[in-house]
Amino acid sequence: PTVIFNFSDDRQQVVEAAAGQTLMQVAANHGLEGILGDCGGACQCATCHVYIDESWLDRLPEMDGMEDDMLEGVAAPRLAQSRLGCCVTLQAEHEGMAVTFPPTQI
Ligand code: FES
Repeated sequence: PTVIFNFSDDRQQVVEAAAGQTLMQVAANHGLEGILGDCGGACQCATCHVYIDESWLDRLPEMDGMEDDMLEGVAAPRLAQSRLGCCVTLQAEHEGMAVTFPPTQI
């Protein structure tokens, strides 16, 4: 699916992702600096924090307890649309999904 990444300084990057990749992997593969992914996608560092566009929230898999716990420790404010990029696996139906990087990660 195509994913739209928005940076807090108003830049936007549209990238082509493969189904089965996580948001963190897609951002890392395209060298987007908004995601650090320090733990390599193990849901243990919270440096892959993203804000999911609200219209997409209910189309994502439910957050598990570990992701929920990690989001308590993120550097940027935790919002209702906060998710960890490594915990969101993309599927074909996520075509056109928009996500925004927190300002602390740029
Ligand atoms: Fe570390 Fe997502 S890459 S929590």
